[in-house]
Amino acid sequence: MIQIEKLRKIYRARGREVTAVDGVDLTVPEGEIFGVLGRSGAGKSTLLRCVNLLERPDAGRVVIDGRDLLALDGAALRRARQGIGMIHQHFGLLGSRTVAGNVAFPLEVMGVPRAERSARVAELLDLVGLTEHARAYPAQISGGQKQRVGIARALAGRPKVLLSDEATSALDPETTASILELLRDLNRRLGLTVLLITHEMDVVKRICDSAAVMREGRFTESGPVTELLARPGSELARGLFPLPPVVPRDGSTVIEVTFVGGATDQPFVSALARKYSLDVNILGGAVETIGGQRVGRLQLELPGDPLANAAQLAFLRDSGLAVEIKTPAPAPTPASEPTAASASAEEDVR
Ligand SMILES: Nc1ncnc2c1ncn2[C@@H]1O[C@H](COP(=O)(O)OP(=O)(O)O)[C@@H](O)[C@H]1O
Ligand SMILES: [Mg+2]
Repeated sequence: MIQIEKLRKIYRARGREVTAVDGVDLTVPEGEIFGVLGRSGAGKSTLLRCVNLLERPDAGRVVIDGRDLLALDGAALRRARQGIGMIHQHFGLLGSRTVAGNVAFPLEVMGVPRAERSARVAELLDLVGLTEHARAYPAQISGGQKQRVGIARALAGRPKVLLSDEATSALDPETTASILELLRDLNRRLGLTVLLITHEMDVVKRICDSAAVMREGRFTESGPVTELLARPGSELARGLFPLPPVVPRDGSTVIEVTFVGGATDQPFVSALARKYSLDVNILGGAVETIGGQRVGRLQLELPGDPLANAAQLAFLRDSGLAVEIKTPAPAPTPASEPTAASASAEEDVR
């Protein structure tokens, strides 16, 4: 379990101050995968480096499995750090060592005896599917295989927590998918708690239980992924389901309906149309599988203004759907304006 409270990190260089992490609260329950999504410079790497004290925070608390890391030093801190593995975008392998030699390295540093070490290396290589490449050198294997070495090495000390800094950002989509699958599998088999940071929406979609969007050192939204997707105005939801711009027409109501899990199976559009004898216009929509659940977002246009549609909107909400009213526009501005705002919000996350 990872608990972070009011974490703050300020860099001071040549008279300039940068608040890289500006009061972040975060809890990752044991065995969960938490993703922090944000564009470059948001403070993601700094946040992660504060969790294993590669950076010393200026304020706040970092508690891993009940232990307050900032209160530890010397041997106690080293031991606590062994319980935290880390993987990186650029793998950080030693080119002069074989795959097995790279995985053995942290075990040597920990002073694990030779016989035990080679047994553990074999076990780790098996875990990440690299047994056949034990004697290869980093230059002889693919990017995906290099990251598997990185993962095996990170798990050498049997950590309960794994930190991942853009671990798939240097990989092609197919390899990314296989590495994410491996992380998910290890998370389940070993009960690993994973905190990962990424600028890729797809990573969150594929494996995260919970997520946060980070901007300028702060979390702008945070929670279970399926809950964020159903939250009106969620940036994460908008990024995962980029829908066409809304062009409001006089005397109509445009709504965005988000449905998670069971609600997906109900034919709610036709139920609504039948019950109220409406012509429902479908403007756009997408359905995805996220965290093993089907999640969808649908843009609908109903005749009449929102006031006239009060019963219809209540019907949808009572059916377990999240409903966000997109019209009427706040003022008689050009129709393109809300579009520009949502488009830039999407870019921010990517
Ligand atoms: N060692 C450092 N010294 C000074 N500023 C830094 C240092 N590391 C990061 N920063 C600054 O802190 C901010 C957050 O950086 P970082 O945590 O790397 O963001 P991200 O990982 O989201 O791209 C940026 O403005 C960056 O320039
Ligand atoms: Mg970074």
